[in-house]
Amino acid sequence: MSEHTTLVTGGTGFVGGYLVPKLDRTILTTRDVERAKKKAGADGDEFLEWSDDLKIDPTTKIESVVNLMGESIAEGRWTDEKKKRIRSSRIDSTRTLVDQILKLEQRPKVMVSASAVGIYGDPGEVIVDETYPPADNFLGDVCVDWENEALRLAEHGVRVVLIRIGIVLGRGGGAMEKMLPLFKMGLGGRLGSGKQWVPWIHVDDLAGMILWAIENDSVSGPVNASAPNPVRNSEMTQAIAKAVGRFAILPAPKFALRIALGEFANSLFSSQRVVPGVANEKGYSFQHSTIESALDEIVDK
Ligand SMILES: NC(=O)c1ccc[n+]([C@@H]2O[C@H](COP(=O)([O-])OP(=O)(O)OC[C@H]3O[C@@H](n4cnc5c(N)ncnc54)[C@H](OP(=O)(O)O)[C@@H]3O)[C@@H](O)[C@H]2O)c1
Repeated sequence: MSEHTTLVTGGTGFVGGYLVPKLDRTILTTRDVERAKKKAGADGDEFLEWSDDLKIDPTTKIESVVNLMGESIAEGRWTDEKKKRIRSSRIDSTRTLVDQILKLEQRPKVMVSASAVGIYGDPGEVIVDETYPPADNFLGDVCVDWENEALRLAEHGVRVVLIRIGIVLGRGGGAMEKMLPLFKMGLGGRLGSGKQWVPWIHVDDLAGMILWAIENDSVSGPVNASAPNPVRNSEMTQAIAKAVGRFAILPAPKFALRIALGEFANSLFSSQRVVPGVANEKGYSFQHSTIESALDEIVDK
């Protein structure tokens, strides 16, 4: 059987570090090929320099595409410039990618394209599956436009899966890399009232869901990538404190985080009781369905 080649954008990042080693053969796009080659984990078989005028050889044979690139939303203050980069590194870049894929002599069968639970805004206590409408705010608009660029491929017969990713928990990156040192020093604490629901997913399950989405022809459209048991921020705080064997007694007030982080702080206080409706219906089997199980894998005892 011939090798299955996957083109991965943003494969040098946190999620890509877990996904790429599980794929058969990969072509990774990156803004810095030399840095990507040196980076442990980004073990692509072939690298393509990413730029706004990326050209992919039309004879390239690609069976699937995973689109993960995007300027981090959690690093740095949300200035107007930063917000422009958040938008264009997802929307303009996905447009460039799709334009190139459409020029291939042989199109891939499937593209799994990242989106985020930020699309849902702040629905409070409501249980949110993939049918919930998008929010009318900055992140909601970014996600809708990002998904629409990816969906242009669906108009040309390519199966498009839009994975609406929750807060990804795992070793070596994402939210845990920021939170664990604080909790280990006894400085962790709930955010505000702590009542807000947090849609989390273990990075092994996110990588697992992406592979599952590539392999399952019946999966298309929006798919919530979050664990079946979202928790309130206060529950997550207590679970992390317990896992590291420390108390978490210092709540972080909203005004302080707004001063430190700018508009991004609002997303930390949004309540998103997201459930993986499509993954449950189509039979994805989670490795970590409870926060305790996820933390057990992540935190060294
Ligand atoms: N981690 C989470 O909790 C989370 C939650 C919701 C959604 N997501 C989404 O899932 C995807 C992967 O997340 P991740 O945590 O793996 O992200 P990450 O670690 O920040 O990696 C993203 C990759 O995108 C590329 N990139 C960054 N800025 C770019 C820009 N301005 N233009 C083009 N490429 C750029 C980088 O690759 P090069 O430097 O090699 O070019 C980087 O390695 C992202 O789209 C993110 O929005 C993640």
